[in-house]
Amino acid sequence: MEKIALPVFLLLATIGHCGLVVWAYNSINATGLRRTTIKRIEKLILLIGVLLPTCAIAAELYSREAGSAFTFENLRFLNKIFLVVLCLFAVVATPFWIESRPIFSQSRDLSQHLVSHLWKPEEKGSCFRGRKFSTMGRLPFNEIGWMEVNQKKLLLNNFPKALHGLTIAHISDVHLTGQMEPLFYRQAFEWLQQLQPDVFVLSGDIVDYDRCVDDIGVVFDGLHAPLGKYFVLGNHDRRLRDPIQVSNRLIQLGWHDAGKCHASFLHNGMKVRVVGNELPWFHRYETESHSDDIFSWTLGIAHSPDQLAWGVKTGCGLLLCGHTHGGQIRFPGIGPIVAPSWHGTRYASGVFERNGTLMHVSRGMSGVHPYRWGCPPEVSFLHLTDRTN
Ligand SMILES: [Fe+2]
Repeated sequence: MEKIALPVFLLLATIGHCGLVVWAYNSINATGLRRTTIKRIEKLILLIGVLLPTCAIAAELYSREAGSAFTFENLRFLNKIFLVVLCLFAVVATPFWIESRPIFSQSRDLSQHLVSHLWKPEEKGSCFRGRKFSTMGRLPFNEIGWMEVNQKKLLLNNFPKALHGLTIAHISDVHLTGQMEPLFYRQAFEWLQQLQPDVFVLSGDIVDYDRCVDDIGVVFDGLHAPLGKYFVLGNHDRRLRDPIQVSNRLIQLGWHDAGKCHASFLHNGMKVRVVGNELPWFHRYETESHSDDIFSWTLGIAHSPDQLAWGVKTGCGLLLCGHTHGGQIRFPGIGPIVAPSWHGTRYASGVFERNGTLMHVSRGMSGVHPYRWGCPPEVSFLHLTDRTN
């Protein structure tokens, strides 16, 4: 052991320790617990994450004999165990962490970027309303006021020929908090609307505070899609005294509540089923709404990409999700570190495929955290086609 370089142990242990803290943080945020409970557990995780290594270092420095070499062998017994456990975790977890990096997990061959444009505040005009976002939004490199508008072609498995060319405007994580001007959303929605989508999909996290419910009418007014507008609620909508008021406002504006019951539309003689999933936060789905009708294809909407297995089981050809915000911060060459998912950052944003179900995860339009780096807000206009075409 004497010959083992302690710095290598310490480096591995640091990786293991940070990995454990991030894993705990991601996992707790993937649960259906109430937000206040999650915030308390988050603080506990961070406290333990700081206290444990601090105590270990302090104990080592305090008990160290003068002149003794700083080697693994001379460490206190408990610190040796602590170090070995963290190193083992690093060795076991690192391959999984690398394997889940976007460069390996995304199905890049199943989507093509047709048009992508980044609007920056100087192009869009001032978009901040609240003090928190207007202060933070002016910091260099902070992208919370940006908007990436993009058109993507998605290549689907067994997509009926009659549905080729179907277009969907995918919006997610609008987060009406009062911090952004309605214009911020309206500009992006108008860009989507002028492309004349067949369908609008909104995949949750619509309003954060009761006082912002009235903004729904201003932000979502006037959107039109001939084959319908469909939404599900997200975890942040559960912060409201009565989340159903969000649903009711959108229904008044002609949206269909896919979190409550299935829907369908006809296109070129084909019947498309639209199914929603709000797990693990809401259980509003009415089983009696399930229809045994024959349908040609299924479009799924879930707030969390953790519901991919459900999408596969339900037979969704395409599943549209949000929730993970792309990780909010993405480091060059590394990507995101934190995302509220059981899969960590694997499904932070992008296009993924499992057993014939294609999943598109949006980075979303806003959030409650006033920072984004390497991860601008986005709205997407999706062109659907068969992969064999
Ligand atoms: Fe969100």
